[in-house]
Amino acid sequence: MAAAKPYYSPGSLSAAFYDVVTAADARLAGDVGVYAGLAPAGASMLELGAGTGRVGAELAMRGFEVVGVDLSRPMLAQAQARRAALSPEVAARLTLKLGDMTALDLKRTFDLVACSYFTLAHVPAGAAWRNTFATAARHLEAGGVAAFHLPLLDLMRRATPADPKAMVLDEGLSDGRRLRLYVEGRRFREDLGRLEQVIAYEELDARGRVLRRSAERLAYSMTDPQPFAAAAGLVLDRSPIDLGGVGEIWVFRKR
Ligand SMILES: C[S@@+](CC[C@H](N)C(=O)[O-])C[C@H]1O[C@@H](n2cnc3c(N)ncnc32)[C@H](O)[C@@H]1O
Repeated sequence: MAAAKPYYSPGSLSAAFYDVVTAADARLAGDVGVYAGLAPAGASMLELGAGTGRVGAELAMRGFEVVGVDLSRPMLAQAQARRAALSPEVAARLTLKLGDMTALDLKRTFDLVACSYFTLAHVPAGAAWRNTFATAARHLEAGGVAAFHLPLLDLMRRATPADPKAMVLDEGLSDGRRLRLYVEGRRFREDLGRLEQVIAYEELDARGRVLRRSAERLAYSMTDPQPFAAAAGLVLDRSPIDLGGVGEIWVFRKR
């Protein structure tokens, strides 16, 4: 597993094809509506781990004033390109910044903080989670909410073993190209609550020749977020919102 490059790193296919892979998962389509329902239109939102701007751009279109922060330059570059395609009025409501959610201080507050699609699970469930919850609390107005979309520990535990020959995604791209994904490595570390995977990305031309191939390392950490939230002064606002097998959105409120 050690030779694989990290997910979303420069030159990675996980960054290049992020939007293709997420668009292929229909279950994820409901997440934007959940965030939009947590604050009134016109509210301010900080997105921790904004990625390619999938959520942030949509919320800016719905009237939110959004600041998106991400650690990955290739993901942010795609978010900038998405922003450039928006109308000037909407683009003015979306600000993108390079930054680390575990150590962020923008010296301002927001009505809503969102840490969408497993972003928190990308960092280990210890000091990094504690610091991210502190970041969320620091950037929230009193009474504001922080939403964390997290994976289901039970599904991580029961994930099927890797089978490098079994395609887990086969998507058509433009010009007849295809994107294929395989799981080359997978193990669940009970001691760390971490699912460690190596996902192979393969881009093929219209004649089935491999144009690019890359094995990339993806780990998800999961544990009960409530003690981390409590330490940051955030209280659970409601039962976690089920996203139909693609995890749950946990909503906390700052008193
Ligand atoms: C699965 S993507 C989610 C992107 C976006 N939120 C969405 O829902 O489409 C996870 C993102 O978290 C970012 N990320 C991981 N660790 C981070 C950190 N410490 N600070 C900021 N962003 C981070 C990654 O670069 C990646 O863009």
